[in-house]
Amino acid sequence: MTRVLITSALPYINGVKHLGNLVGSMLPADVYARFMRARGHETLYICATDEHGTPAELAALEAGQDVATYCAEQHEIQKRLGAGFDFSWDHFGRSSSQQNREITQGLARALWQNGHLEVRVTRQVYSNAEKRFLPDRYVIGTCPYCGYERARGDQCENCTRVLDPTDLKNARSALSGSSDIEIRDSAHLFLKQSTFVPRLREWIDGHAAGWSPLVTSIARKWLDEGLQDRGITRDLEWGVPVPDDIAGGKLKGKVFYVWFDAPIEYIGATKEWSDQNGTGDLWRDWWTERETTAPKYVRYVEFMGKDNVPFHTVGFPCTLFGANESLPEGQKWKVVDQIKGFNWLNYYGGKFSTSGKRGVFMDAALEILPADYWRYYLMANAPEGADTNFTWEHFASVVNKDLADVLGNFVNRVTKFCAARFDGKVPGEGEYGEDEEVLITELGLRIAQYTDFMEAMEFRKALSELRAIWVAGNEYLTKAGPWTHIKTDRARAAVGVRMGLNLVHLFGHLAWPVIPHAARLIHQAIQPAPEIIPWPDGAMVDFLDQLDADQPIAVPPVLFAKITDEQIAEWKARFGGED
Ligand code: MF3
Ligand code: ZN
Repeated sequence: MTRVLITSALPYINGVKHLGNLVGSMLPADVYARFMRARGHETLYICATDEHGTPAELAALEAGQDVATYCAEQHEIQKRLGAGFDFSWDHFGRSSSQQNREITQGLARALWQNGHLEVRVTRQVYSNAEKRFLPDRYVIGTCPYCGYERARGDQCENCTRVLDPTDLKNARSALSGSSDIEIRDSAHLFLKQSTFVPRLREWIDGHAAGWSPLVTSIARKWLDEGLQDRGITRDLEWGVPVPDDIAGGKLKGKVFYVWFDAPIEYIGATKEWSDQNGTGDLWRDWWTERETTAPKYVRYVEFMGKDNVPFHTVGFPCTLFGANESLPEGQKWKVVDQIKGFNWLNYYGGKFSTSGKRGVFMDAALEILPADYWRYYLMANAPEGADTNFTWEHFASVVNKDLADVLGNFVNRVTKFCAARFDGKVPGEGEYGEDEEVLITELGLRIAQYTDFMEAMEFRKALSELRAIWVAGNEYLTKAGPWTHIKTDRARAAVGVRMGLNLVHLFGHLAWPVIPHAARLIHQAIQPAPEIIPWPDGAMVDFLDQLDADQPIAVPPVLFAKITDEQIAEWKARFGGED
C-alpha cells in the first residue's frame, strides 16, 4: 500500500468551467483517485479555486462586486457543481486562504534567503484614469509591424509578433479606452530560474520514461529555448502580499503573481484540509520527504491540460527546489512523480470558450443529464494522444450504445428476469459449465488489462476494455439464453441467471471509479454497497461465484435513458453547434 497524493489543475475562479476544462483536470483526477482508493491505497485528492490575478479582478468588476465577495460566491458555485459531478475531493480549497498566504510567503522568504530571488526595476504601464497598473495584455494600440489597430501589449493577434506595450502606437487602456497612460518604473522580484536548468534537466530526464511524450516534450522545449528568469510579483491589490522582510520592504504593497501562488495552493489546500480535520501538521507528511522515509512513500500525481505543463515541470519545481535549502537537514519538499497531461477537447471543431460562452458548461450539463453520462463519455473520449471533438451526435451515440444498450440493458434484463421467474432470489440450482469457464477466463484477462490501463492512466484504453467487459457479459447472456431454457430446463436457466447476477455485481465494482452513481445502483441491486467499492481482487472464478443461493436481489431503476433525436436537436439549438 502506498500513499497517493493527487492534484488537479486548479480551476480559475472566474466563471463556471466547461467540459473541456473538466476532461483535462478534475474529472480524470477523480477517476484515478477513486481507482486508487478502490485498490486500497491511502489517497488524498486535493483541488481548489485559483482566485488571484487580473481576470478575477475584472470579473468581479463586471459583476459589480468587490473581489473578495465575488470569489467567495464563485467558490461556492464551483464547489456545488463539483459535488454534482461526484468529484470525490478530500478538500476543495481556495488559493486566497490564510494557509496559502502563509505558505506562499514562507516559500518566497526561503527563496530570498537562499539567493534565488533578485529585485529588478521594470517598466510598467500605469493608467491615470483607472489609477492602477495595467498588465501588458490590457494595453491595446496599433501594431508597429502590421498596422492592426487592436494589438495587445504582449502580442499582436494579427501578425503574432511578440510586443512590448511601449511598441504600440496610440496606446490605450483596454479596460476604459483611456489613453491617459504613462510608463512608470516599478521594482519586482525575479526568480532566477536560469540557474536551475541543469537541475531541472536531470529531474525531467529521470522521469521521462514514465511521463508521456506530450509532457516531456513541452517540458524540454522550455529548457531548450533558454529558460528565462521569471517575474513573480505584480502591481495589483488582489493577491498574496509580498512580506516586508523580503528585499528590505522594497516591494511594499505588491502581490505575488498568480502563477506563483496557485501551484503552492496544492500545499495550502492540504493544510486547509489538515486544519479542518484538526490534525495539525498532517499536511507535512504529504509534502515533505525525509531521508528516513522511503522516497516513494508518497506518490504524487498531477493532472492538467497541456498549457499548464510548463508551470508544473519548470515553475513550481523551481520554487520547491530553491526552497529546500531552508528545510531541516535531510528534508525536501515533495515534487511531482507522475504528470498526466491532456490535449484539448474541442466543440464542433472549434474551441470551448469561457469568454465566448461557446460549448457546454458544468451547470448546463447537469441541468440536462446526470453526471455519469458526462463522466463516461468524456473519459472514453479523453484527448490523450491528440485533440478530440465533442458533437451532440457523437455524444448521443456513445451514451445510447455503451451505457443504455450494453450496460443498462444487461443489468435490467438479468434482474428483471430473476424477479419474474426466480422470485427475486439468486437461484442455486445447476453447476457452472464450459460456457461459464470460457467467460471467466476472458474476463480475468480483460480485467487485468483494464487494471493496467487505469494504473497507467491510459483512460481511453481503460474504458474501451471496460466496455468490452460489458459486451462479453451480454454475449454470454445471449448464449446462455435463460428465457429459452426456463420452460424445459430450470437448472440450466438458473445457471445463466446466477452468472448474470454475479456479473451485475462485478460491473458495479468495475464501473465505480468512472460512473460512481450508476455503479452504486448496480451494486445495490445485488448487495449493499460500501462507501468505497473495492476493486475485485483474487481469482475471477471465485468473484463470479460468490452470491449465496436464495439471497434476495432488487431490480434497479432505469440506469440510462436513451438520448432522442429531438433532444439532440434541442441541445444543438440551445448550445450551438454547426455540422
Ligand atoms: N487556473 C489555471 C488554469 O486553469 C491552473 C492553475 S494550476 C496551478 O489554467 F498549479 F496553478 F494551481
Ligand atoms: Zn501586428
